[in-house]
Amino acid sequence: MKTVLIGCGGVGKCILEIIPKIKWFPKKLLDELIIIDPNIFKHSFHKKVIEELIEELKNKYSIKIKIIKKPITKNNLTTLLLPLLDSNTLVIDVSINIDGIEIIKLCQKQNTFYINTSLEVWEIPEPEKLTTDISKLYKRTLHYQHYRLEQQNKQNKIKHTIICEFGMNPGIISVFVLLALKSYAKSIKNYEAVKLIDRGNYAKAAYLLKLSVIHVAEQDTQEINRNFINKTYKNFNWSETFINTWSPSGYYEEGRDPIQLGWNPKDKSNVKLYKPSDYQRGAKDNIRFGRTRGYDMKLHSVVPNRNNGFTKIKGFAIPHGEASSLSERLTYKITGHEVYRPSVYYVYDSSPISKISIKRLKENNYKTPKYTHNLLLSDLKNGYDSVGALLMFDNVAEPYYAGTILSTADVKHMGFKYSSPTVVQVAISILSAVKWMMDNQNKGLCYAEDLPFEYIYKLCKPFLGKIYMGKIPVPMKKHTITELIAK
Ligand SMILES: NC(=O)c1ccc[n+]([C@@H]2O[C@H](COP(=O)([O-])OP(=O)(O)OC[C@H]3O[C@@H](n4cnc5c(N)ncnc54)[C@H](O)[C@@H]3O)[C@@H](O)[C@H]2O)c1
Repeated sequence: MKTVLIGCGGVGKCILEIIPKIKWFPKKLLDELIIIDPNIFKHSFHKKVIEELIEELKNKYSIKIKIIKKPITKNNLTTLLLPLLDSNTLVIDVSINIDGIEIIKLCQKQNTFYINTSLEVWEIPEPEKLTTDISKLYKRTLHYQHYRLEQQNKQNKIKHTIICEFGMNPGIISVFVLLALKSYAKSIKNYEAVKLIDRGNYAKAAYLLKLSVIHVAEQDTQEINRNFINKTYKNFNWSETFINTWSPSGYYEEGRDPIQLGWNPKDKSNVKLYKPSDYQRGAKDNIRFGRTRGYDMKLHSVVPNRNNGFTKIKGFAIPHGEASSLSERLTYKITGHEVYRPSVYYVYDSSPISKISIKRLKENNYKTPKYTHNLLLSDLKNGYDSVGALLMFDNVAEPYYAGTILSTADVKHMGFKYSSPTVVQVAISILSAVKWMMDNQNKGLCYAEDLPFEYIYKLCKPFLGKIYMGKIPVPMKKHTITELIAK
């Protein structure tokens, strides 16, 4: 079989670095690898890194590797991409600004397996502006992209497996939500809920357990190695470069987009928000969106840290796919009527250096930064990425949590030279889903909540560092958006 890797930035490089470390990776996917990325050798240091990673793959497997240094565009989809697609091919799409739905359409037509980690769209004009036309604003949400994909999928009715939005978050964050839900149900001896979870009836279990809010809570404490960066990337432009531990462009694009919150109907918060079906006929109402940017709303949450303690965080309400897919999957209906749904949102306390970039982005009225830099492990001194699912239940003071805390020291210990904890969390998730896809080739279009959570967790666990699962001994009695907003 052939694998086509679209995009070879931070996550793409990590996929190349992690494959030789995974015994269960389906070897049949390693007959041929085609990498498509116009900027693959943008910097001489990155060229050296990729050549080294490719050399290792070639030495370990008899794999043919071809690099296409061109961008995929609206105009060349059928000339560049289509000829590469057939039923013996897997596409791993970890690029940015390519319309994922158009690629999925081609893959469905050609019976090609496909996975991405975020549902991207073509670059939009004047992305720094948020329109006052709420119908147009809705078209800028991920919820609308899910709606578009659902419409397309209804027409195609294709059975072979396509996995949409499976990285860390979105991705195995849904696995952590289900692990936490099951562990909590066991802890309070609610065996009916445990059984429901085992049967895949997650919405009814969440309803019985009175789950009211899910935070995707993340704190990234990774610190940069300024000397290394100055030495390696000559004349590094510190003042005009947006820096992050994963796709910088992906991050500022999400952060300047309108907030999109998985919506618990019981939350009567006094925040100006809009309902999808008022602006798009047929759209589901599991989220609310608003004319506030992700970077302009901060929420309180808490994460476990690496000192066996807990850190209260104030994080950005970044729009993410899981707010939409999880809140939809956890909507409980009785005789067709929606009776319950938990809130779902991302609370992201990103790395210290990214916050400097965000401050500058705001000062520059959200205009696209001139340069970007995605930090490799070698650019980092220390720190960790703590990310997981924080669950709050009605009338229960202490939240319940399941998540990973992966440090730079952990990934070095695992033998990584270039991949940071953040991208290792993403890449291992992608590859676990790929393994499941190769063993389950006719499951149609899947989101993270459709994959067997305990199986995926077992595959990923050795790469996730310290796992925390249990009560968080920091009472959080306030559950509504208004109460959780931080100054
Ligand atoms: N779900 C998750 O947990 C998660 C986490 C991190 C990143 N992501 C997503 O994964 C994707 C990759 O992240 P990353 O950190 O590797 O980003 P990155 O910015 O480092 O890399 C993206 C790569 O795509 C390439 N690219 C851009 N336009 C292209 C085109 N038209 N054709 C082909 N290649 C193109 C770029 O040159 C770049 O090398 C992003 O969409 C990001 O949002 C998801």
